[in-house]
Amino acid sequence: MNDWNEIYNTSKEWILEAGDYIREKMKSSINVSSKANQNDLVTDVDKAVEEFFIEKLKDKYPTHRLMGEEGSAELISNLNGTVWILDPIDGTVNFVHQECFFAVSLGIYHEGVGMVGFIYDVMKDELFTALKGHGAYVNGKKLDTVSNVSLQESILSVNVGWILEDRRLEYFVKEARGFRSYGSAALEIAYVAAGRLEAYISFALHPWDIAGGAVILKEVGGIVSNYEGRELTYLNKDTFIAANPAIHELLMDKLHN
Ligand code: IPD
Ligand code: CA
Ligand code: CA
Ligand code: CA
Repeated sequence: MNDWNEIYNTSKEWILEAGDYIREKMKSSINVSSKANQNDLVTDVDKAVEEFFIEKLKDKYPTHRLMGEEGSAELISNLNGTVWILDPIDGTVNFVHQECFFAVSLGIYHEGVGMVGFIYDVMKDELFTALKGHGAYVNGKKLDTVSNVSLQESILSVNVGWILEDRRLEYFVKEARGFRSYGSAALEIAYVAAGRLEAYISFALHPWDIAGGAVILKEVGGIVSNYEGRELTYLNKDTFIAANPAIHELLMDKLHN
């Protein structure tokens, strides 16, 4: 039987420890390489943070499994039992080029249900947290339920490239108060939860980009789905929308009618 308070407290300690490690590593030179293409970067720090969690889990919760971006993902094909879905650094391009606006993102799922969520903005030292049924917090301050702000008063976030690919988004570009592209899906979902954005839209995200954010956003009444409005599986790459209920409904309406 899992003690979720205990798991929450332990994983929070590890997230903060990972943040300390990242800040320390940034004082010396970082090894950068590319994966699928020249814009798909990974560093020795991404890999070390994932390894840190793997080792911690083996020791403390040997029956829990880990799905992480930098190695073990291919081993996970179902969410049976307890699965930690980790993005050791979300926003690696920001990490390498800007040294800010990147996060450690973690969602802990039990039999497919998101129980714990963390998104840690390492340079801002801002930690978004949630334990299912207990609300969501930023640095210990409870987040309000998301409000159904109108599109005209909303700031939406999407990668500029997606707007070029899907002209149906033009309506939102014209109507919304503003559009942003921050480069860290996890932080953009956290910002929807915190009411700093009204929606975040992507055409292609992996489970580790969204697992922590989904737990956090649901705790404040936000909606996560794929582009068709369906539940996410947290097992495959998919389209993604995180939004307050009003903007989510509008997106569904405009994108599918
Ligand atoms: C990426 C970031 C980025 C999003 C990409 C993700 P990574 O994650 O979240 O904002 O647009 O789709 O892959 O590779 O930096 O962990
Ligand atoms: Ca990556
Ligand atoms: Ca990511
Ligand atoms: Ca990553």
